[in-house]
Amino acid sequence: MHPLQCVLQAQRRGPWASVSWLLLRTCRAQSSVHGTTCPGPERQQENGVRKDFSSRLAAGPTFQHFLRSALDPQEKPDVEDPPPYLTVDELSGRQRKVYLETYGCQMNVNDTEIAWSVLQKSGYLRTRNLQEADVILLVTCSIREKAEQTIWNRLHQLKALKTKRLRSQVPLRIGILGCMAERLKEEILNREKMVDILAGPDAYRDLPRLLAVAESGQQAANVLLSLDETYADVMPVQTSPSATSAFVSIMRGCDNMCSYCIVPFTRGRERSRPVASILEEVRKLSEQGLKEVTLLGQNVNSFRDSSEVQFNNAVSTNLSRGFSTNCKPKQGGLRFAHLLDHVSRVDPEMRIRFTSPHPKDFPDEVLQLIHERDNICKQIHLPAQSGSSRVLEAMRRGYSREAYVELVHHIRESIPGVSLSSDFIAGFCGETEEDHLQTVSLLREVQYNMGFLFAYSMRQKTRAYHRLKDDVPEEVKLRRLEELITVFREEATKANMASVGCTQLVLVEGVSKRSATDLCGRNDGNLKVIFPNVEIEDVSNSGVRVRAQPGDYVLVKITSTSSQTLKGHVLCRTTLKDSSAYC
Ligand code: 5AD
Ligand code: SF4
Repeated sequence: MHPLQCVLQAQRRGPWASVSWLLLRTCRAQSSVHGTTCPGPERQQENGVRKDFSSRLAAGPTFQHFLRSALDPQEKPDVEDPPPYLTVDELSGRQRKVYLETYGCQMNVNDTEIAWSVLQKSGYLRTRNLQEADVILLVTCSIREKAEQTIWNRLHQLKALKTKRLRSQVPLRIGILGCMAERLKEEILNREKMVDILAGPDAYRDLPRLLAVAESGQQAANVLLSLDETYADVMPVQTSPSATSAFVSIMRGCDNMCSYCIVPFTRGRERSRPVASILEEVRKLSEQGLKEVTLLGQNVNSFRDSSEVQFNNAVSTNLSRGFSTNCKPKQGGLRFAHLLDHVSRVDPEMRIRFTSPHPKDFPDEVLQLIHERDNICKQIHLPAQSGSSRVLEAMRRGYSREAYVELVHHIRESIPGVSLSSDFIAGFCGETEEDHLQTVSLLREVQYNMGFLFAYSMRQKTRAYHRLKDDVPEEVKLRRLEELITVFREEATKANMASVGCTQLVLVEGVSKRSATDLCGRNDGNLKVIFPNVEIEDVSNSGVRVRAQPGDYVLVKITSTSSQTLKGHVLCRTTLKDSSAYC
């Protein structure tokens, strides 16, 4: 098949003519058009006004346009040439106000800023006030049925805003971005006619064009996944000047194909961002005074930068001991240990975290680096999903309970004092009471500091949907989930109790939400720490007396704990480097 293949589909649906462009590309897949005319008097009127646009759109893009959009993103100019059916003015945001709302994981938080960065360059303004928005974009999640239901409910509320819009104003445009756009595609456009644009996770560069097409009253969608889009050149905009920490996306997608998971279908194949562009972003954040960076990816520790030929003659990949992988073993490339090493050297006063990893990719060199470097947090998320080897096999996780427990011991030996967290799913297909008790016993055995626990939600397209039976009744799933939560809390409280009496380094975030006289921050293990806002000595600055500010490191003596929070009294202000002498 030729890499550039353009199919013009002309369909008739009910009384409305609909034209949709679908561009299929096998190499770069980021610039497509899929516009359909939409019903409703408002749109019919707009269509009349914009006949000119429609005839230009019907003429379609030229071959040169496709060639241009196939360029490597690094070579692309900042402001894209408009496609032939749009003028520069139509493509620009014309100071329209965009309201962005984020659902789901931290990747979505980062994607929101990527989408905003693209729109800002195109002349849009951002608003935090829903009522004054000209464009509302929801960055969505599909991981569980409930996550999608939240979006459908939200769309019903937004419908009212759209219908109340005054004729004197520009029409309100609503867009669905991210995983739900990718999973449901035109089903959303058909079900909710008030949705104007759809953009999948690899289509955010295309937002200005999609919105320009929507201006004409047509629905527009780009849900094509890419093999190489990492938005390496799109620096997310740091929106809150007082923020102490930022997320840096280092890889996207997932090749693991765990049998319950929709992510490989919504976010596509695994691909990593070049090391140089990650380091550039981390340096910029350090210059802006940020004190914490969290490296992000669906399988963050499976990072592999193969962008340059010389990276690819490296040796084969080391997996964690006793672990296997469902995908074809990969070779070469700059791996996570290399990246972590370089990122942690950028600024010794900047804390480094990473999420979300897969347990299979913790070779010794990664563990050693976490142990050695003062600014790499001693905190590892180790999603187990189940404590039963039988269920783990059905989930296609690539490890047994025994291999997982051995890894936990190995991590604890390699990184003394490490804080561990995990994800668990209750009531997966075929899970018996005995399997469930195995999960309970794993929670007891490991004694995690943090946990994220979910009831299983069957997702279409996944292996479990095709091959397994969702046979655990809803009430049993919920009862098991409750039991897991109770056990997790008991164990986390015990684990946190061990820190009472200890002095911990805390990065101050700001005033506590519960009390204006308290400050809150996070310890190395990422637990929230609350302490009174009093004058303290600055030990790195000849003992002058100060009050801690967001972005300061302070030492806090822990006095009490719960399963989620620690409380204490603040001793002094310090630096990350100096603090290693105290802990
Ligand atoms: N049902 C319930 N939980 C799920 N997760 C992923 N897919 C599903 C599903 N279909 C959980 C896993 C994963 C976390 C991000 O969400 O625990 O680690
Ligand atoms: Fe939700 Fe997963 Fe998509 Fe994140 S990657 S938004 S968790 S479906």
